[in-house]
Amino acid sequence: MTADLPQRQGPLAEALRQPLLLGLFLPIQDGGWSISTLPRSTDWSFEYNKRLTLQAEALGFDLVFGLAQWLSKGGHGGEMRYRENSLDSFVATAALSSVTSRILLISTVHVLYGPWHPLHLAKYGATLDHISGGRWGVNIVTGHVGAEWQMFGKTRVEHDLRYEMVDEFVDIAKRLWLSDENLSLDARFWSLKEAFVSPRPAHGRPILVNASGSEAGFDFAARHSDLVFVPSPTGVEIEPTLEALPAFTGRLKAKALAQGREVRAIINPTIVSGATDAEAQDYYRAIIAAEDKDASVGFTNRVRGDSDAHAWSTHKPVEGARAVGGNLHLVGGPERIRDYLLRLKQSGIDGVQISFFDFERDLAFFGREVLPLLHEAGLRI
Ligand SMILES: Cc1cc2nc3c(=O)[nH]c(=O)nc-3n(C[C@H](O)[C@H](O)[C@H](O)COP(=O)(O)O)c2cc1C
Repeated sequence: MTADLPQRQGPLAEALRQPLLLGLFLPIQDGGWSISTLPRSTDWSFEYNKRLTLQAEALGFDLVFGLAQWLSKGGHGGEMRYRENSLDSFVATAALSSVTSRILLISTVHVLYGPWHPLHLAKYGATLDHISGGRWGVNIVTGHVGAEWQMFGKTRVEHDLRYEMVDEFVDIAKRLWLSDENLSLDARFWSLKEAFVSPRPAHGRPILVNASGSEAGFDFAARHSDLVFVPSPTGVEIEPTLEALPAFTGRLKAKALAQGREVRAIINPTIVSGATDAEAQDYYRAIIAAEDKDASVGFTNRVRGDSDAHAWSTHKPVEGARAVGGNLHLVGGPERIRDYLLRLKQSGIDGVQISFFDFERDLAFFGREVLPLLHEAGLRI
C-alpha cells in the first residue's frame, strides 16, 4: 500500500484550523434534499449554485459539496418529479473551481460505474488541483443503489467487495499523484503500463472524502480519507443522534489512528431557523405540510428498498422527515442552532455540511444571525 500524503499546508490544512468546519450541500438536484412543494428559491441550475457558492465563500464557509445520483425520467416522482433535473457533481464543482478563490470544492464520483480507471482520476484530479490551487477534492462513492448499476449495464457488486475495489483504485491514483517515475503494475482489478501524471498536485494529492457508516467504509476512510461524511446513526432527531455520536465517531477515529492517520467527521444537517424557536417551528411545520408524498415514497423505495447502504439501516422513520430531508434536522432560533452545533462538536463531529430549504434566503439568515454566535462560542475563528 502507498504511503498517504495528506496536505500539511495549503487550503485543506488552512480550513482544518477551524474548530467546526462549515460546508454547504449544494442543491444541484431539483429540490435539494427537501421533498416539499412549499414555494422557495432553491434551484438546480448552475447560475443559482454559483451564486450560492460565492455567497458561502463570502461568509467564510470552508467547503461546498455536490452529491451524485443517476435517475430515470421523472426522478423520484410525485408532482415535483423530485430530482429529475440535476447537474453532474463532478462537472459542476469543477466549473465552480475557476470562479472561486478560497472555498474547497468536493465532487462526488461513482468510480465503479463507468469506464473509470485510476489514471482518469489521477489526471483529472491533478488538473483540477492545478485549476483550483489545491482546493479540489473527491468524494469516492461505491454505488449503493441497484438500479443505478443497471443504468450502466452492470449488476451491483457486493458491498464489502466494492470497498476492496475502491481501495485499490484510490491506492493506485495516490501512487500516480506521488510518483516521479512511470508506473506499471498488474493489480487485482486494474493494470497500468508506464502511466505518468504531471503536473502533480501541489500538496501531495487532492482532498479525499468518502461517505459511510459501515465497518468496510470506515476502514476505507481510515486508510484514505481526510473528511468522512457520516450519517446520523439514529435518524433525523437531534437528541438520539447526540447520544449515539460519540461511540460512532470514536470508532471511525480509532480506526484512522490505528493507521497513523487523522480523519474529520462531517455530518449533514438540514437547518431550519427563524428569529425565534416558535418561528423556526412554524417554518418546519409548513415545509412538512407541503410534503410531496408520492415523491417521498419514490425516494424511500430507492434509498431503502433498492439500496444496500449500511449507513441509514438503523434510522428510525419519522413522519414528514423526507419533506425536510438530510440526515439530521436542526430546528430553532439562532441560539438553539448554536447550542446544537456546540453539542455536535462535543460528540466528535468536526464539521457540518449544511442543507437549507430555501437556500439563498436561509443561507443569508444563517450568515447574519447564526454565524456571529458561532464565532462568540469559539466554533469559528
Ligand atoms: C452526506 C452523504 C453524502 C452522500 N453522497 C452520496 C452521493 O453523492 N452519491 C451516492 O451514490 N451516495 C452518496 N452517499 C451514500 C454513500 O456513498 C454510501 O453509499 C452510504 O453512506 C452507505 O455506505 P455504507 O454502506 O458504507 O454505510 C452519501 C452519504 C452521505 C452520508
